[in-house]
Amino acid sequence: MITQEDIRALFSAQLEKIGDEELREKVVRTFTTACLLGGWETADEIRDMPFTLLTDCHGIGFVAHTIAVTEGALALARAQIEACEALPYAIDLDRLVAGGLLHDVGKLLEIEKDGEGGYRKSRSGRCLRHPISGAILAADGGLPDEVVNTIACHSKEGEGRPQVVETVFIHQADFATFNPLVMLDGGRLIP
Ligand SMILES: [Fe+2]
Repeated sequence: MITQEDIRALFSAQLEKIGDEELREKVVRTFTTACLLGGWETADEIRDMPFTLLTDCHGIGFVAHTIAVTEGALALARAQIEACEALPYAIDLDRLVAGGLLHDVGKLLEIEKDGEGGYRKSRSGRCLRHPISGAILAADGGLPDEVVNTIACHSKEGEGRPQVVETVFIHQADFATFNPLVMLDGGRLIP
């Protein structure tokens, strides 16, 4: 069984950037609950799980992707804060890190092992894509609506919809990890 301690160990460098202790604990609890509901039993299993079934991940797993997106979104936010004297919007870094860590938490329900060494979309995943199941998990976990927005709207479900600014950064960081893989397999990534 994956414990809260496992989740704290996997994401320690990101979790320690969340200043609000209550928010940090809700992130850990929601992640742990998703592992339990998805039937994931060890930290290695969620490390090895591909972060998407839509393209070849070339070995990039769910945990590495989650960290890359969280840190990428944070870097985008910090670049703007440092470069622009007066941004016309406030950026909440706690919300950004919480949303980055949880943006794909629904994938723990959407993806399952196929019993033959591979992975497939689960029944839950066919009913609810990960932005929807992740949003439900986060809302159930008591996370604020703004963090739920980062999850619900980070992918195509959020196109053209109202978003907190942290959702924008998470979306961009997410597609900066996904698009090159799609382009690589399509022969459109110039080496
Ligand atoms: Fe993602």
